[in-house]
Amino acid sequence: MTQQAAKIGLLGAGTVGSSFLELLEQRSDVFAKPSGILVRDPNKARSASVVADKVTTDPEAVIAAADIVLELMGGTDLAGDLILTALAQGKRVVTANKAVLAERWQELRPYLAQGLLYFEAAVMAGTPVIGPLTGALRGSSPLELHAILNGTCNYILSQLELGVTYQEALKEAQRLGYAEADPSLDVEGFDAAHKLTILARLAFDPDIAWESVKARTRGISQLTPAIIKEAMEDGGRVRLVGSVYPQDGAWQVEVCPVYLPAAHPLAAEASNRNGLVFYGDAVGQVFIAGAGAGALPTASAVLADTIAALAARPGPSLLPAAVPVPLDYQAEKLGEIA
Ligand SMILES: NC(=O)c1ccc[n+]([C@@H]2O[C@H](COP(=O)([O-])OP(=O)(O)OC[C@H]3O[C@@H](n4cnc5c(N)ncnc54)[C@H](OP(=O)(O)O)[C@@H]3O)[C@@H](O)[C@H]2O)c1
Repeated sequence: MTQQAAKIGLLGAGTVGSSFLELLEQRSDVFAKPSGILVRDPNKARSASVVADKVTTDPEAVIAAADIVLELMGGTDLAGDLILTALAQGKRVVTANKAVLAERWQELRPYLAQGLLYFEAAVMAGTPVIGPLTGALRGSSPLELHAILNGTCNYILSQLELGVTYQEALKEAQRLGYAEADPSLDVEGFDAAHKLTILARLAFDPDIAWESVKARTRGISQLTPAIIKEAMEDGGRVRLVGSVYPQDGAWQVEVCPVYLPAAHPLAAEASNRNGLVFYGDAVGQVFIAGAGAGALPTASAVLADTIAALAARPGPSLLPAAVPVPLDYQAEKLGEIA
């Protein structure tokens, strides 16, 4: 008996969605086919993997026809509403959308608790961090976390080090598909803050509010070539880093440009790569690094989540409550660039 292909409803077929479809086509071991593909402009030229007769502007029809739904359109309003519509219909949903997870967490939380939502691609693209933080690393109580979470900023900072101007570097990041449609989300630090909020909730405190992280976010747009050069003279680098650490009896969650000495594990990450350093009381220091943006690395994580959703394996689990803040622990303090 031949196995029936599962029906995948795609909400969005842009950079990530079209790459996901290309990957899916190459994988004869994944029994799934697109049943509907939502786009904004049905007349746009698209790659052959975006099967023309599945393209539609009707999101409800895409959701209704699908076994599982992939939200790859971005934004918080319509995307959030459609994710909730699909979840309310009992469908598993895969998303790469960190903004919606950061900003509409409370509405999504009942479904997250049921393991119906999958979002490995939302943080560090294809480099696995959601899985480890909600799996193997749960055996240790977290002490602190520092991460480079935005591929565009990392790429721009790496280009500035080479003497390329800020505007040229941003343009190239957009051409390479690293930058968000609205680049201010990247360069003002909000994309990194969205991702850090998700990580902080999964590893430290499920109640961390987006607004409190947003209020402690600074981006890279005010950095000058002179600041970058000065850091390099000391053998270090300037990077946009998101941190969670204990201070004054509370978990502090912030994003800002920092000076990283050459020996710091995050200092080695250049171009669009992302990195994360986690410290746990039992496990010690764990360092994870890899591609943090781009069509194929992101599509890889979406495909991995799709495979998990098709097998009905639950998505990432939530902490039942905040992890107690360690009182005698001295956290690493990275030098914030003023
Ligand atoms: N690009 C990356 O490297 C990367 C990495 C990690 C996570 N992500 C996340 O992945 C998601 C998708 O990103 P992307 O780079 O693939 O975006 P994108 O290239 O702008 O694609 C968005 C897709 O959604 C469709 N769409 C958007 N708004 C719509 C609306 N109102 N109605 C119907 N269709 C709509 C667009 O239709 P048209 O094609 O007709 O315009 C397009 O197909 C975002 O949440 C992003 O943050 C991206």
